[in-house]
Amino acid sequence: MDSLSLNSTAALTTAVRRGTAPSEKQSITSPTLSEVNTSPDRPLRDIPGSYGIPFFGPIKDRLEFFYGTGGRDEFFRSRIQKFNSTVFRANMPPGPFVSSNSKVIVLLDAKSFPILFDVSKVEKKDLFTGTYRPSTKLTGGYRILSYLDPSEPRHAQLKNLLFFMLKSSSSRVIPQFETTYTELFESLETELAKNGKAPFNDAGEVAAFRFLGRAYFNSNPEETNIGKDGPKLITKWVLFNLSPILTAGLPWFLEEPLLHTFRLPSFLVKSSYKKLYDYFESVATTVIGEAVKSEIPKEEALHNILFAVCFNTFGGVKILFPDTLKWIGLAGENLHTQLAEEIRGAI
Ligand code: HEM
Repeated sequence: MDSLSLNSTAALTTAVRRGTAPSEKQSITSPTLSEVNTSPDRPLRDIPGSYGIPFFGPIKDRLEFFYGTGGRDEFFRSRIQKFNSTVFRANMPPGPFVSSNSKVIVLLDAKSFPILFDVSKVEKKDLFTGTYRPSTKLTGGYRILSYLDPSEPRHAQLKNLLFFMLKSSSSRVIPQFETTYTELFESLETELAKNGKAPFNDAGEVAAFRFLGRAYFNSNPEETNIGKDGPKLITKWVLFNLSPILTAGLPWFLEEPLLHTFRLPSFLVKSSYKKLYDYFESVATTVIGEAVKSEIPKEEALHNILFAVCFNTFGGVKILFPDTLKWIGLAGENLHTQLAEEIRGAI
């Protein structure tokens, strides 16, 4: 997912994740600063920044966000400096024609950020990241849990279902991680010894999907009809979900019309999605049983399970695990020695 730039700049992009669009509950705007700025010796300020001219303002911000010098980190950093504030107004991609309202209040400090968890002030309906929600055509026609506001009755039902899934797999997570990643590193070591190099990404993704199948559903996906195809199918489906907010490294005049102005047509990914759906239908029997008991229709539960495993979890593992390895790798010999000693001391 790193190549899709989902959250390689986690600190900054997370801050503008769901709920920053002030479209419905405007109360996120002014009270945010006044509530956060509790220190009596610091004056209250209006939230700085502007949205610019309608239609053109969002496109200008989008171009700067994707193609400006320094990338998206600099998009935020330069505004923090310009406004001398970690809270400011800006347009978030995608803007025209994908999202109708791209106006957000960006929160980039630990004090203001928690306002996003106050559901009396922030509505999270039909938002996924920033101002954007992927088409429901990509989730079987359902507004899956991430697109629901906590005030909607289905929100609690589906969230409980996902907690059930997490809880019922908790005893498998560590042992299956150990098994799967030992397999991965043993095969990489063998390849390295044979060829002098061993590419990590594809093997790492296959291992991640195997780990999740084993942990969540007590079954190895490679022993089911989906075989080793899971990661490729997910990557294609995620691309269709996120294309308006991704950059593929192409020149702007190609990326803008191809990715950021319209949604990619969902029918092109229908058969891949069906394969994933069939896989989950075949392995998620315990979770589906729990859904039916909680009066969630089986089909809706399955689309939610698919999203939670393929998007929330696989996306996370795919990005965070290689990233962790990268940072450990870059940290140098001292840390490697310390880690080796600590680990050898413990096992
Ligand atoms: C380190 C791992 C994870 C991090 C840092 C993370 C982070 C987040 C954040 C910041 C939100 C937004 C919360 C909000 O809007 O109030 C969120 C929402 C969500 N995450 Fe995660 N997440 C992680 C793992 C997972 C996993 C493993 C699953 C699925 C099993 C998951 C499923 C969800 C769902 C369904 C939502 C929407 C919840 C709602 O609307 O109430 N996440 N996550």
